[in-house]
Amino acid sequence: MYKAPRGTADILPAEQAYFRYVEERAAEICQRYGYMRIDTPVFEDSRLFIRTIGPGTDIVEKETYSFYDRSGHIMTLRPEGTAPICRAYLEHGMHNLPKPVRLYYFAAIFRYERPQKGRYRQHQQFGYEALGEGDPALDAEIIDMARCFFKSLGLRRLSMQVNSIGCNKCRPGYLKKLKGYYSKYIDQLCPECKGRYRKNPIRLLDCKKPSCQGAANGAPKSTASLCPECREHFKDVLGYLRLMKIPFKQNHRLVRGLDYYTRTVFEVQPQGDGGAQSALGGGGRYDDLIEELGGKPTPAIGFAAGIERTVLNLKEHGITPPAPKAQGIYIAYVGDKAREEAVKLAAQLRSAGLPVYRSFGQKSLKAQMRQANASGADQAFIFGEDEIKNGKVVYRDMVEGEQWEISVDEVIALLTQV
Ligand code: HAM
Repeated sequence: MYKAPRGTADILPAEQAYFRYVEERAAEICQRYGYMRIDTPVFEDSRLFIRTIGPGTDIVEKETYSFYDRSGHIMTLRPEGTAPICRAYLEHGMHNLPKPVRLYYFAAIFRYERPQKGRYRQHQQFGYEALGEGDPALDAEIIDMARCFFKSLGLRRLSMQVNSIGCNKCRPGYLKKLKGYYSKYIDQLCPECKGRYRKNPIRLLDCKKPSCQGAANGAPKSTASLCPECREHFKDVLGYLRLMKIPFKQNHRLVRGLDYYTRTVFEVQPQGDGGAQSALGGGGRYDDLIEELGGKPTPAIGFAAGIERTVLNLKEHGITPPAPKAQGIYIAYVGDKAREEAVKLAAQLRSAGLPVYRSFGQKSLKAQMRQANASGADQAFIFGEDEIKNGKVVYRDMVEGEQWEISVDEVIALLTQV
């Protein structure tokens, strides 16, 4: 028996209501804030991700699904959504549009991770990016939009964590300070952190291993090493958040797992859970990314939420998507002649654009009515040998449970009139 690959899941019909609920709310929020939908390919030239996510990150080092195509080009299944948006922005000359250019997406994301609850090898993200604007008021708006999205789903007990990791001018000084501090703890660090110390010291702050918590908690804060411009920018972001009455928590250990971030970073986490592993979403500024891809200096900021994690959280809080209204017509029959009438009516109603479920085979009427109930239909037509002799059919109101006989011609005239 074949099974879905490890770390992937089928989203079965019974689960779809949750996913549609999240996607509908997401699209509504994007419309409210003036974002336009964009879709990019599932795979891209591998160099796009190595360059933007960073060669020293876990994603690029260990988690990409990469392959040579038949022309010998190395491709990677999208491990995140931001770099492809920046590539598309440049490729299609979107810098000529009024700024900020606001784009949103739903995308399948692929990361070869160790699967566990809320962590998969293929997951869905809802993300949005605002390109071409550096104003700290935009940072606050992007954060507010994330808050509104989760609130619109009915999720309230979430914590908005915010930090600033500075820019390419002030970060080198901070990293030097951080390494100096960590040099005293190097022997106590977990093997992974020993590697981070050499390759990507800012990620030391992100470690979840108990042995590394003491060192990480006492580490110098990035906000204490910001250059005057970054300090002013972050002060303004926090000022706008207060002005907009958006509750947030400054988290000095919040650094994010992709190298392209500058200045503001933020994450939405379940309350009381300090682990970034359970973050429902995260984002931040990436003011250098477009330039690194060959464009003009273009400040930008964005956010992405994990849809599976959001659905898990909805379930944990007992939030169920609104049940769809019973809708549709079920057509049942008893006997061969009646079956012909049923086939004819189903075809006529469907070509008039009506949703029709119909019975097949030789089931008992009881079995057909059970199927009608399960189908979600609000009306049923039942053809029997006696009724068809008189050109009649039994109409059943599935919601009220009442039924009566009517003429087939009348049904067609009523239901197919435009
Ligand atoms: P990220 O934090 O890597 O950011 O991913 C965003 C969200 O996707 C996470 O907060 C989490 O909910 C979900 N997620 C990530 N990995 C997995 C996984 N293996 N299984 C299930 N869910 C997962 C980004 O990808 C950035 N592109 C976000 C961004 C947009 N930054 C700026 N603009």
